Amino acid sequence: MKISNILINWYRNDHRKLPWRETQDPYHIWLSEIILQQTRVDQGLPYYHKFVEQFPTVRDLAAAEEQEILTLWQGLGYYSRARNLHTAAKMVVEQHLGTFPNTYEELLQLKGVGEYTAAAIASFAYDLPYPVLDGNVYRVISRLFAIADPINKPAGQKVIKQALADIFDDKNSALFNQAIMEFGAMHCTPKKPNCSECPFAANCLSLEYEKVDKLPYKEGKNKVRKVEHSYFFISYDNKTYIEQRTEGIWQNLFQFPLVEHHLNQEELMTELSHIMKPKAKPQISLFYNTTHILSHRKIDANFYTILVDTKPIFLKSNIFEIEMSQLGTEYPISVLTQKFLNKRNNDDK
Ligand code: ADE
Repeated sequence: MKISNILINWYRNDHRKLPWRETQDPYHIWLSEIILQQTRVDQGLPYYHKFVEQFPTVRDLAAAEEQEILTLWQGLGYYSRARNLHTAAKMVVEQHLGTFPNTYEELLQLKGVGEYTAAAIASFAYDLPYPVLDGNVYRVISRLFAIADPINKPAGQKVIKQALADIFDDKNSALFNQAIMEFGAMHCTPKKPNCSECPFAANCLSLEYEKVDKLPYKEGKNKVRKVEHSYFFISYDNKTYIEQRTEGIWQNLFQFPLVEHHLNQEELMTELSHIMKPKAKPQISLFYNTTHILSHRKIDANFYTILVDTKPIFLKSNIFEIEMSQLGTEYPISVLTQKFLNKRNNDDK
């Protein structure tokens, strides 16, 4: 089945009954859309009813005092919306003789009406083929097609717009637009989307790639922090010494004793003396340096090889001895530690 049909079927079976969905009156639809900008449906609903009751037509709204409008708006925030509402109502009366304009371009001229609101009114009131693109739609489209381009950059927005245009049902514009927004608001939610009962389970690429919780992607939101790691690969008679991580994304994984910064020669000796007591002077070499990138960290990691010829005594109780062969088999390790082991194995060959 086509994606648009799956979406519309889902909407037909399951959506909230909201008063602006029961009308094609452009004035009422415009009011609802302005109220719902930056406002949740349950918060906006009583305001919608108050405005429709107090100003039954756009002429009534245009003729009102600004103060009356602002008083009615009280509690909704973003008061420029209320002032723009008044200006736009006067524009409709003065420039369109009190009849709401019925083209996308003319709607866009009204104060406070941007691309989203113009498309919403054009489709809901006149069934014109303009897809709406709000935060809900960005989320649904980016997940459905696993689009990882940043949605807060023009290039990413262009990709989403194209994907939306590709599935848009221009024979059912109003229904499609209501359905995709409702699907984003109620089903494909930012947190805990209902993927296990999703009508798109067989189509959704981000579900297939396990990327649902990573999308939509916004650039600059996931600031990557640069950190330094120094690991001590202490080796004695085919044994090594590890500790278990207690926090972070590597919680409960095992690693070589770690100091979370880089070390000069002197610091290296000092740190090592805090960890263990070798009987004889150990042989130390910087064996491996690598940069490891995680979603929120860029790790510049140094691995030091420390060879001892008698069993060392450890001064930290959380460090314990294992056979080399147990590392990564019985004791789970991160990809970073695995990279080090691979390097070591390759060098041995
Ligand atoms: N938010 C913005 N427009 C909406 C609409 N038409 N229905 C539900 N929520 C919305």
